[in-house]
Amino acid sequence: MDWTDRHCRFFHRLLTRHTLLYTEMVTTGAVLHGDRERLIGFDPAEQPVALQLGGSDPAALAQCARIGADFGYVEINLNVGCPSDRVQEGRFGACLMAEPALIGDCVAAMKAAVSIPVTVKCRIGIDDQDPEVALPAVADVAEAARADALIVHARKALLAGLSPRENRDIPPLDYDIVFRLKAARPQLPVILNGGVATVEAAREHLTKVDGVMMGRAAYQEPWRLLAVDPLLFGEAAPFASPKDAAQALVPYIERELSRGTRLHSITRHLHGLFQAVPGARAYRRHLATVAVKSGACAGVLAEALALVVDRPAELEHTAAA
Ligand SMILES: Cc1cc2nc3c(=O)[nH]c(=O)nc-3n(C[C@H](O)[C@H](O)[C@H](O)COP(=O)(O)O)c2cc1C
Repeated sequence: MDWTDRHCRFFHRLLTRHTLLYTEMVTTGAVLHGDRERLIGFDPAEQPVALQLGGSDPAALAQCARIGADFGYVEINLNVGCPSDRVQEGRFGACLMAEPALIGDCVAAMKAAVSIPVTVKCRIGIDDQDPEVALPAVADVAEAARADALIVHARKALLAGLSPRENRDIPPLDYDIVFRLKAARPQLPVILNGGVATVEAAREHLTKVDGVMMGRAAYQEPWRLLAVDPLLFGEAAPFASPKDAAQALVPYIERELSRGTRLHSITRHLHGLFQAVPGARAYRRHLATVAVKSGACAGVLAEALALVVDRPAELEHTAAA
């Protein structure tokens, strides 16, 4: 939430053709009563994209799943991991970990409403729950409701006392419990999430689980995504370098600016595109100081890119070789 959006996804899709991209969590209330096009509209070029819903009313979730399917999303995902206070007041997100039967009802209602896959993203437990009990309980209801996959953020959420930010770092990661869950349930697709920092690490985990979800590493260091297609899908990267990918974004930027989008709304997602290359800091500074000005045009990105000495060698797989 508040980090990724459709502009971010459009750019990430230029870096990898095969990765499944997710929206941020959108609540059922927002989908049903908000400005739907602004909240969940997207460009077909972003596909494949999954819509993540936040809610706990099966009927509302079913209605929103249908709306998502009609918008063209390829998967609907239920958030059972967000720990924020706002979410707790609404009785959804991570606090649903304490109500597995309700998770099952939600998934069953969504499955009955759409023909696209319905998945769940959960934690390994909350507060004083024993993950060895809480995680299998969620997996049981997910399987019984014919969920198509379970994405596990492999740490607890502590709902009392930790901020959402602290809840992404402080409870320790436990990958092993996720690997054991997968081993015990060969028929349930299990996706590992949490602390996966490199595409190489993702590849390693893929020997034990069906998929890996990367959050912060993908957002903060998007250049890593250029390694996904070569390393995980046996295909050439869409572009030879991060700079080429950024240049390919210019027509999209021009189109968006003509519709009233501000340049910074798009370029803010490109700040981490260069790392440890000459000019990376000047590039970031240019975007942070010039692209933020109202009326800034696509040429500002070109100016920033001109400050960087790009080289394909910064690609992760090349650097590791
Ligand atoms: C700013 C921010 C916003 C997030 N918003 C969501 C969200 O809307 N839905 C969700 O399922 N997870 C959300 N997460 C959690 C991530 O999806 C992920 O589970 C978590 O950061 C751990 O994975 P990572 O170490 O790869 O980032 C968010 C994380 C951050 C840092």
